Amino acid sequence: MRIGMLTGGGDCPGLNAVIRAVVHRADAAGDEVIGFRDGWRGPLKGASRPLHIADVAGILARGGTILGSSRTNPYAQGEGGADAVRATMAAQGVDALVAIGGEDTLGAAARLAAEGVRVVGVPKTIDNDLAATDYTFGFDTAVHIATEAVDRLRTTAESHRRALVCEVMGRHAGWIALHAGMAGGANAIIVPERPFTVGRVCDWVHSCFRNEYAPVIVVSEGAVPDGGGELIAAGGTDAFGHRRLGGVGTWLADEIERETGAESRAVVLGHIQRGGTPTAYDRVLATRFGVQAVAALHDGESGVMVALRGTDIVRVSLDEATAELKTVPTARLDEAEVFFG
Ligand code: F6P
Repeated sequence: MRIGMLTGGGDCPGLNAVIRAVVHRADAAGDEVIGFRDGWRGPLKGASRPLHIADVAGILARGGTILGSSRTNPYAQGEGGADAVRATMAAQGVDALVAIGGEDTLGAAARLAAEGVRVVGVPKTIDNDLAATDYTFGFDTAVHIATEAVDRLRTTAESHRRALVCEVMGRHAGWIALHAGMAGGANAIIVPERPFTVGRVCDWVHSCFRNEYAPVIVVSEGAVPDGGGELIAAGGTDAFGHRRLGGVGTWLADEIERETGAESRAVVLGHIQRGGTPTAYDRVLATRFGVQAVAALHDGESGVMVALRGTDIVRVSLDEATAELKTVPTARLDEAEVFFG
């Protein structure tokens, strides 16, 4: 079998571990692998390179993706959709694809599979918001980075008796904020799933200072003030129609300072959460996903995604995986709120 592989959407730590695993598993079975460049742009335009064991030596712990990534949507105007992908596959003798991506990349994969392209998906995103898998790789690394930031903000907040707001990624799901906030003992965690009021946040800030403690607040970029809307950063929309979010942390810090009189600062972690070496957990998960994606192709599967359920890697339909986002349940937010203030 000749397998084509691509990494699409926002990058995340662990992509190279999947690439390495796919090449090793395929090589062991006598398959060939080619890597398509820059997400769906590769299969649409034919940009690819062969991938042998030597090409993936030493990349397990490296962040980013040796294949490059993009938010190219094969179904956007003028991109050519399934016909263009099929034409490249035929020209390059590719039998099946391994698509490594999040909701957008895998949503396109689901559509291509429905149109007869043989494709297996691998779930990646630091946001951990893909349905049908307990975890995506990249999330654990992002949480570690954000937790370390919260720990560091804590000591400087204490020294100056300031309120510090830490804005983390998470467009529609607050998983990073929830986990990093809980791990770092945040005094408030604000996520897109639960609209917030400045008044409530200021109550927590006051109670913190009353307890001789300086508040650290973790907020997802997609969090919305009650009755308001998302804060949009400059820039347009991507090929999947997403606007660039950002600014809620700074806005909230200003509001806290205005309402409470306490000096406040905001820090935006941004792409630091996506860069650098993956944690051991993410390396292992990514490696298992890569091995099992090739195994799925060998079993004749298409239109499925490998997924983590408990400690097992299972196969779920791409349709199920991309039908809706996995957001933070109310019960998890209630648990976290016990520690606010
Ligand atoms: O989808 C992953 C993600 O990291 C989101 O959390 C964030 O909103 C977005 O990507 C940022 O995308 P970009 O790299 O295009 O700025």
